[in-house]
Amino acid sequence: MRIESPRILAAVRDLGVEHRPGASLAGLTSLGIGGTTDLLRVREHRDLPALVRLLRAEGIEHRFLGGGTNVLIADGELPWVVLQLAAAAPDVSIEGNAVWVDAAADLGRTVTTCARQNLGGMEGLIGVPGSVGGALRMNAGAYGTEIGKFVREVEVYRAASGENETLREEQISFEYRHTSFGPGDVMLRARLELPERPYREILAGIRVCNEKRRASQPLNQKSAGCIFKNPPGGSAGRMIDGLGLKGFRVGDAMVSDRHANFFVNAGRASSADMLGLIAEVRARVRSAHGCELEEEVIVWNA
Ligand code: EPU
Repeated sequence: MRIESPRILAAVRDLGVEHRPGASLAGLTSLGIGGTTDLLRVREHRDLPALVRLLRAEGIEHRFLGGGTNVLIADGELPWVVLQLAAAAPDVSIEGNAVWVDAAADLGRTVTTCARQNLGGMEGLIGVPGSVGGALRMNAGAYGTEIGKFVREVEVYRAASGENETLREEQISFEYRHTSFGPGDVMLRARLELPERPYREILAGIRVCNEKRRASQPLNQKSAGCIFKNPPGGSAGRMIDGLGLKGFRVGDAMVSDRHANFFVNAGRASSADMLGLIAEVRARVRSAHGCELEEEVIVWNA
């Protein structure tokens, strides 16, 4: 969708929002898949309510993109504009055990920044790609650690009220790859509380997780991490692997030959290729195991 009205563009500019017309979303996602639309980059959280009011008043549909590492976006010209938060500088500030972190901050860099201040606990999250905001929304986890455990409060923009609000930990529930945040909540900033630990120990933990990840996941290929959630008590990767589907392709979308729950863009995969692969693998797992796999990746159909 293109915003062409000079009046609307001037109002967007007045809010200090950067307008990138016809941006390729493929370039903003780790899968390298996604069509084109206007991208609006929001520099100040406080301007978000006014921007959303403006878009609503003008009948312009919009969606929020975080780090782009867990999303599968439709092909072609998209019927909504995309909003993305620009990270504040500095995006992480630390006071004792309390860490204020911007939703747009890179998760891995946040883990290492905290480690340098002798704050640990999040070592397992080191290789999870994406932004802190995406990690909060999905309650990202790996190697026994989930981000939700460290959250004390989160500032969100709530579409329901049209305002920025602060939610305390007791108002949020974090479960396996699921949280109580609504579809209209946009993560802005969080306060985490991390345990004190010597930098050297944290670094050793980080190294172990990095090695495990390198050994089992296709880190140098375009992917959105695991494509399906693990079913209760089971492993999606093991089931898909057991059906001999590593390397199985639909167009350029391929089941990784390293980890069967990673689907990679092995060339110029379209969204349709990836959705076709997801449907086919799901159907085969259903007929072999009677188990309906649920996507972990967020799908944006046009
Ligand atoms: N396995 C296979 N074949 C495969 C992949 C896995 O047999 O191709 C087996 C493994 O040998 C192991 C079991 O399946 O016995 C589980 O595999 P793994 O340890 O790799 O963990 P996972 O359950 O597949 C989860 C998360 C990952 C996270 C890792 C490490 C989900 C859906 N996945 O993977 O998170 O990195 O544990 O903690 O919860 C993600 O969320 O995008 C993601 C990649």
